Amino acid sequence: MSSADSGISFEACAALPEHARQIMTWRNDPATLAMFYHRTPKLWESFWPEYLSQYLSEETFNPLFALENGRRVAFLRFGRVTHPLGLPALTVDISINIAPDSRGKGLGRRVLAACLEHLRRKGVAHVYAEILVNNVASIRAFSGAGFRTLGIKDKLIADTGETHRVEMFLADTGLDRSAPHRSDILAP
Ligand SMILES: CC(C)(COP(=O)(O)OP(=O)(O)OC[C@H]1O[C@@H](n2cnc3c(N)ncnc32)[C@H](O)[C@@H]1OP(=O)(O)O)[C@@H](O)C(=O)NCCC(=O)NCCS
Repeated sequence: MSSADSGISFEACAALPEHARQIMTWRNDPATLAMFYHRTPKLWESFWPEYLSQYLSEETFNPLFALENGRRVAFLRFGRVTHPLGLPALTVDISINIAPDSRGKGLGRRVLAACLEHLRRKGVAHVYAEILVNNVASIRAFSGAGFRTLGIKDKLIADTGETHRVEMFLADTGLDRSAPHRSDILAP
């Protein structure tokens, strides 16, 4: 799986301990944990079954590694969601984690842009993301990759009882050019 000219390609995550360990190691990075709703480091004994049953669930799009020059530099996870503005087109949400030693080099934006093209080829029309308002690098990366803001909301996480302020973003993959933008919807 490759994205033409971007230098970024994709590898499907599989039911392999090596894949799960890579994802868990990146996720347990302290800077990453600080940007997630659940901040307790994962333990292998519970993460491996969680990975098999939830990350690789048939209900969701398969998660991916993004590769630059054949080297894994990011993990991407998706879930099918209802379009935030009610459009019927196929919409997924996205979560990204750039490998800790590869951050701050412009990869976030490049990986997200290449991923939009990859998802368009899979028939996805829109991609949704919610980002903590203090995650400046993520907001800039998503904006640079073509995501548009839908505004800010408070999000309650049921199992922790915590409320987080998040900014909502939406990208059009180009599959459904007839979809209205928020500015169209808000226009008088
Ligand atoms: C957030 C993340 C995806 C951004 O990817 P990245 O490759 O590190 O970011 P980039 O190098 O593409 O930088 C994007 C922009 O943020 C800026 N930036 C990077 N790190 C920053 C930081 N720590 N603070 C403020 N701005 C930062 C860059 O200067 C760049 O700005 P520009 O748009 O003006 O050029 C990545 O750092 C990451 O995976 N972090 C941990 C997990 C996470 O937060 N995931 C997102 C959850 S929604």
